[in-house]
Amino acid sequence: MNNEDLFKNIIGHSKEYGFIFQSSEIYDGLSAAYDYAQMGVELKKNIRDYWWKAMVQLNENIVGLDAAIFMHPTTWKASGHVDAFNDPLIDNKDSKKRYRADVLIEEYMAKIDQKILKEVVKAAKRFGESFDEDQFMATNPNVLRNVEKKEEIRKRFVEALENDDLADVRQLIIDLEIACPISGSKNWTEVRQFNLMFATEMGAMAEGASTVYLRPETAQGIFVNYLNVQKTGRMKIPFGIAQTGKAFRNEIVARQFIFRMREFEQMEMQFFVKPGTELDWFEKWKEKRLAWHEAMGLGNEKYRFHAHDKLAHYANAAFDIEFDFPFGFKELEGIHSRTDFDLTQHEKFSGKKLQYFDPEENKSYVPYVVETSIGLDRTVLAVLSASYQEEELEGGTSRVVLKIPPFLAPVKLAILPLVKKDGLPEKAMEIFNQLRFDHNIIYEEKDSIGKRYRRQDAIGTPYCITIDHDTLTDNAVTLRDRDTMQQERVPIEKLSQIVEEKVGIKKVLESIG
Ligand code: GAP
Repeated sequence: MNNEDLFKNIIGHSKEYGFIFQSSEIYDGLSAAYDYAQMGVELKKNIRDYWWKAMVQLNENIVGLDAAIFMHPTTWKASGHVDAFNDPLIDNKDSKKRYRADVLIEEYMAKIDQKILKEVVKAAKRFGESFDEDQFMATNPNVLRNVEKKEEIRKRFVEALENDDLADVRQLIIDLEIACPISGSKNWTEVRQFNLMFATEMGAMAEGASTVYLRPETAQGIFVNYLNVQKTGRMKIPFGIAQTGKAFRNEIVARQFIFRMREFEQMEMQFFVKPGTELDWFEKWKEKRLAWHEAMGLGNEKYRFHAHDKLAHYANAAFDIEFDFPFGFKELEGIHSRTDFDLTQHEKFSGKKLQYFDPEENKSYVPYVVETSIGLDRTVLAVLSASYQEEELEGGTSRVVLKIPPFLAPVKLAILPLVKKDGLPEKAMEIFNQLRFDHNIIYEEKDSIGKRYRRQDAIGTPYCITIDHDTLTDNAVTLRDRDTMQQERVPIEKLSQIVEEKVGIKKVLESIG
């Protein structure tokens, strides 16, 4: 199956099994807005909890915050979002479709990468064991030509963006002969900047109302509260403030399911450090965040670092952690060294001092900030895409299984009486009532046991226990493993401990703690 079909199947499966629905579906949906249903909301919550525990619980110098979505409008003037939170957009005159100019160029460069990869795969096949990839990359004329071409495009593109030269961004699209995927034409408008913030009015009276924005990032809520938290929490630098919550961006091109939404959730942490130490902390947080991702067990090869081509106005270093989604490697998390930009801007615009008194140095200064910023919805998509598998089974049957890491699975355990009679449901309910205080578990008695197993596989339940006639005499049940489909007999009295070991978050936290 190709990746496009795979992605379609993941989206279909997410709907069919109650993970994610299109927002306002009965009105034909609202573009780039999604609702998390009964399974999706549990998965999302478990990922959020994992992040929160790793950040706040495991780091004694990081505390949490939950700031309001609405903030004083001057916040966004100070942060630069009113003037500079733009994407360059371009329209195709024939299809009337709107695109992000930078994305058109990036996709063109990604196609060159694919060509290079094809050459490498072909050569690896031809040369077999003796293939030396480094040597091939350094000498093959096709590869060298493509690498050079991509580098030239990249250089011109970055220069045009840095100089805010939108005419040259357009010219680059024309020179590369990029066509609209819908109309196939190269009939492009000028490139214009488009501000991504949603604005609304606060206050009932038109005259007295002021324009407020739905926050485009959660970070600013942390910056404006940093000194309050530091003082009331008696925090000493270095320290961090973590927050999860909704952010809103009027994305020009919103596609790829929950990858790019207009309403989404971020999990951000700002780490306040002594000026001059920020790049060391930046390196530490890069490694720590990668370890957090890897500990989920989706496969280390699915992650890579990507240095930003163009640094944001506030950053002196920036890396993304990219994930191998079905549509290729794309940004999942950003790690940014934001200098003292935000705090000094807020000092300037508010007229309030935001300096920290450092008792060790005996002086006051504005701290520097290293930020880690991850999209919760993108992490849900990463987990779903890596977990989704269509398997052929012995006997010509097949199953769709979500091999979600057990500690993140929406339902940890399904309790299934083999039949709906002979006292088995009562025994099963007894076990259900014993275990439901520890984990999110479900009880199911409808349909054949085989059908029930398939349904649990499809929602990613890592373990099922079956209560059969022997249970009534030997006080043991059958524990079935979702991934291997192996079954073992375990005593009821040991269930709680066994299940905790298999699905608990503790060992994952210990591995990164
Ligand atoms: N405070 C820094 C900041 O907001 P960002 O790179 O713009 O940085 C951080 O966003 C993360 O938020 C991204 O890595 C991505 O996971 C997520 N994100 C950004 N825009 C998104 C969107 N439209 N839909 C879903 N997730 C998004």
